[in-house]
Amino acid sequence: MSQQEEPDDESETPDDAVEELRQKRAEAELGGGEARIESQHEKGKMTARERIDFLVDDGTFNEVDPFVEHRSTNFGMEEKRFAGDAVVTGYGEVDGRKVFLFAHDFTVLGGSVGEVVADKICKVMDKAIENGVPVIGLNDSGGARIQEGVDSLVGFAKIFERNTKASGLIPQISAIMGPCAGGATYSPALTDFTFMVQDTSHMFITGPDVIETVTGEQVSKEELGGAGSHSTKSGVAHFSYPSEEEALENIRRLLSYLPANNMEDPPRVKPWDDPDREIPEVTDIVPSAPRKPYDMTKVIDSIVDEESFFEVHGNWARNVVIGFSRLDGQSVGVVANQPRVSAGTLDIDAAEKAARFVRFCDSFNIPILTLVDVPGFMPGTDQEHNGIIRRGAKLIYAYAEATVPLLSVVVRKAYGGAYIVMSSKFLGSDVNYAWPGSEMAVLGPRGAVNILYRNEIADADDPDAKRQELMDEFRDEFANPYGPAKRGYLDDVIEPKDTRKRLIQDLDLLGRKREDTPPKDHGNIPL
Ligand code: HXC
Repeated sequence: MSQQEEPDDESETPDDAVEELRQKRAEAELGGGEARIESQHEKGKMTARERIDFLVDDGTFNEVDPFVEHRSTNFGMEEKRFAGDAVVTGYGEVDGRKVFLFAHDFTVLGGSVGEVVADKICKVMDKAIENGVPVIGLNDSGGARIQEGVDSLVGFAKIFERNTKASGLIPQISAIMGPCAGGATYSPALTDFTFMVQDTSHMFITGPDVIETVTGEQVSKEELGGAGSHSTKSGVAHFSYPSEEEALENIRRLLSYLPANNMEDPPRVKPWDDPDREIPEVTDIVPSAPRKPYDMTKVIDSIVDEESFFEVHGNWARNVVIGFSRLDGQSVGVVANQPRVSAGTLDIDAAEKAARFVRFCDSFNIPILTLVDVPGFMPGTDQEHNGIIRRGAKLIYAYAEATVPLLSVVVRKAYGGAYIVMSSKFLGSDVNYAWPGSEMAVLGPRGAVNILYRNEIADADDPDAKRQELMDEFRDEFANPYGPAKRGYLDDVIEPKDTRKRLIQDLDLLGRKREDTPPKDHGNIPL
């Protein structure tokens, strides 16, 4: 060290410098201070750092930018400067796998997003994209920082641009753990999965006060944008949990099914369930009468590795079931009609729910298993006028563009357009099976004979007996799996008990699948 670089004060030692760093770090870790931390706890919420500590493996979190401060001087902001400002960012590990994180710190200016908060978030998002690592955002914020004006809005634009750039490259997961209002909601909406915490989290574009002023409608915050509304009515939230802890634990579970990025295969875990296990019980679960309801999740549970099914969007558009699962330790996405809800018909919400899931799986190399038992699309003016043609088309598009291994099993029936949509052979499915006794046709026997033989039935001495006779004929001709099997539209008709074994063998083979698509900027999915 040169003479000029000697410390002026000889009593200042390297240990003092380290001590100063420790003090600064400890101050930064207090965020908005003890009182605000206490107030956060009183609301039943953890602080940003407590959430991160709970989520990541012990001792793995490395904070980035703990000393960044805003430069605003408007509206007394000089007095409101905190090291790290209103977001905690960095990287850590979940089950030994890297993740980037940002967590809004509500104790600092209500977690509001000004220029440097946005820049901190963008920095970790850029690193996540460059390094192919998932990014998790823990939201608890008053939204755009009012004092920073348009700089705050620009900050959100920068975040949205990263969300979009990251889409399909790395998994993006959002948890809403407090307020999330206005345009701020669009960052979680652009990510792949949104978790909400019951009672303490709310999302809306405009809050109850604005709604009342503009439209006169009175609605509570909870009814408008609580976890209940978003996980059952709007579909904005994929998951809703009673506590922050449960939400964070389930983010860990979700990550266990996902690759770190689109260039990797999803993690294969050591199998714990016999791949050759026969599943005779499914014959008792699925009634042979084509309209009798049953719970499709029981069929899924029988087929996949024991206790591996992790349902996504479990409370919204329940006529279709989606979720992650494992077959012999390998991650698969499952899409299945749910005959217990609206007879398993496809409607707008079901089509959009399944389409987005199929596209997620396809982006991240996760094979898709489709279990089919569908009477058709939902009829009615409500569906037609809300665009079931345009919006139902999304599911066709999603399956048809998918290049991951696609396996499908018709377990009871597949009628009309819904037969085509649910991963049929000529949308590009790799493996198509049906169980004996299953039915596939343009229309069900009753609807078909009523159209084809209207006059014959009306003129018959006993119209009901005539109709039944014609329906039996129709069923023999069309409503069975052997017509499609004769044409190769099905690869085989399999015994239900062998389903798990066959799918695992196929999946093993299809792991080698390569499919090239012609280069294009992107397709134009009907939105
Ligand atoms: C600056 C904010 C803030 C904001 C909260 N605070 N939101 N400061 N900008 N957006 C501050 C408060 O002034 C307060 O500071 C502290 O954070 C805690 O807030 P409280 O109101 O005391 O907390 P609580 O009662 O729990 O209410 C939380 C809240 C409420 C519901 C979030 O603060 C609120 O309604 N904030 C405004 C929300 C909003 O309209 N945001 C803009 C959305 S539009 P002090 O120092 O007094 O304790 C948007 C556009 C994005 O985000 C556009 C992207 C394209």
